[in-house]
Amino acid sequence: MTASAGLPHPASDDEARQEFAADVRRGLLLRPRQLQARYFYDALGSQLFEAICRLPWYRIPRAERVLLAEHAAAIGVRLPELTTLVELGCGSGAKLALFVERLQRARPLRVRLVDISAAALELSARTLGRFSDVSVVGHRAPFVPGLRAAVARRPVQGSMLVLFLGSNLGNFHPPRAAAFLREVADCLRPGDGFLLGADLVKPEAELLLAYGDPIGVTAAFNKNLLARVNRELGGDFDLGAFDHVPRWNAAAARMESHLVSRTDQIVHVPAADLTVSLCSGESIWTESSYKYEPEGLAAMGADAGLVCRDQWIEPAARFALTLFTR
Ligand SMILES: C[S@@+](CC[C@H](N)C(=O)[O-])C[C@H]1O[C@@H](n2cnc3c(N)ncnc32)[C@H](O)[C@@H]1O
Repeated sequence: MTASAGLPHPASDDEARQEFAADVRRGLLLRPRQLQARYFYDALGSQLFEAICRLPWYRIPRAERVLLAEHAAAIGVRLPELTTLVELGCGSGAKLALFVERLQRARPLRVRLVDISAAALELSARTLGRFSDVSVVGHRAPFVPGLRAAVARRPVQGSMLVLFLGSNLGNFHPPRAAAFLREVADCLRPGDGFLLGADLVKPEAELLLAYGDPIGVTAAFNKNLLARVNRELGGDFDLGAFDHVPRWNAAAARMESHLVSRTDQIVHVPAADLTVSLCSGESIWTESSYKYEPEGLAAMGADAGLVCRDQWIEPAARFALTLFTR
């Protein structure tokens, strides 16, 4: 893989650490206390996420793989000039590799990977290394700056498909999701596509199992965020003093992941210049995963200036893959 240069965010590991410290400080001073989900993905967090994807209760990856395998050829037909794929938040790259394999293509492909996790970029570049006619460039950056960096270097000829899979959109609160879709749409030219994988509303019992598996992998993934604060910012979170608690918020149509303090406790995070007193039962809200209705996804795209061309639904797990064009 070629690494991208000249990215706006963050310029160095030191700046990344300062940004992390500032976000931890801001989030832990809020009520309810919060930590941003994007910080889950250090090297260990990325591995734990891969483990979650293997759990029988977390059905998103398998449902999305089925849809990608079945419909990649149709997507290729919709975008006959396709020469560039950009995946935002590529993770392991396994889904993109499956998509590339099933896509009928007459010419070499340029693949641009955008992820804040160096571990994810390395893994996905290795996964895609098996295609001899695919060139891969990684952009270690947040979604939109990474997309802009990829777009700045695209050739004049050919069209581009941006993939946003794994229901990553669900981590954004609705106003941010709407703004994100507009930012993506602004990066597209007529004839380009946007492929969105998003999880649908389903029975609460299924959601609680998906986000609170009985083996405890999701709990480890959630608690690793506190471990990361300890490792990188010198924090003294006692991981045993928190419970991972998934909650379904029906009014907001979102799953929430919380870390609930088992006791009254004081936590120090020196690099964030922070001391926090937590009461027994108080929660740190670490993630939201919004769930959608199929028509709502099409409408969100339309509000951003995107046209819904196709939508495929995996009925057992209730997951949707929606193809938009500009
Ligand atoms: C839930 S995983 C999904 C991975 C893959 N797309 C899939 O469907 O299996 C989210 C990925 O997005 C990356 N990520 C999370 N927040 C990000 C952000 N704000 N900017 C860029 N990448 C981000 C993480 O590092 C991780 O690799």
